[in-house]
Amino acid sequence: MLINDEELILFLKDNKLFNEWYSYVKDILKSEEFEKRKLYIHHDDSVFHHCVLVSFESFMIARKIHVNAKICAIAGLLHDFYPKAWQYNEELFKKYPECLRTKKSVFRMHGFVHAKEASENYQIYYPDIIDKRITNAIKNHMFPLTIVPPLYIEGWIVSIADKLITIKTINIKTVPKLIGLKEQGKVLQKTKKYKV
Ligand SMILES: [Fe+2]
Ligand SMILES: [Fe+2]
Repeated sequence: MLINDEELILFLKDNKLFNEWYSYVKDILKSEEFEKRKLYIHHDDSVFHHCVLVSFESFMIARKIHVNAKICAIAGLLHDFYPKAWQYNEELFKKYPECLRTKKSVFRMHGFVHAKEASENYQIYYPDIIDKRITNAIKNHMFPLTIVPPLYIEGWIVSIADKLITIKTINIKTVPKLIGLKEQGKVLQKTKKYKV
């Protein structure tokens, strides 16, 4: 199924737990800074779309196994909230050129650094929701690539949900690029349509 950002929310609305999930994440979803993630590319997807799916998946797992669903929903939504886009997008470049990252050395590759950056960046934009479980879940969601595992169950859920959603939405051949082990080429079109 191909959907855009607005249709994604309508798609999730079909779930009977949608209202609970939305009550936890709506302030972030509506914030100007998070809106910019519609222009951050995540493989053939947007970071906005990817993070909404990871948030919802994390929330649903948490509800199923009776752990903190609010922490999982928020950490899932913010797990890739790194400050600067690592892939070129013309529309992002025109609107927010300061949001584009300059070229990285191999030791600064996205896959190894973005989780820590996101764990710090969310605290700048959403100080009211700072929580050690959210911070740790975001910081360690790339385990085992980044060696240190999540400290709390909510972090394990977000890390697993991230991988499940990624597997569902990408071509396996592109994994090295996706996790930042290989440089991405320029992407000149805004990604408007997504597969779920
Ligand atoms: Fe990530
Ligand atoms: Fe992710």
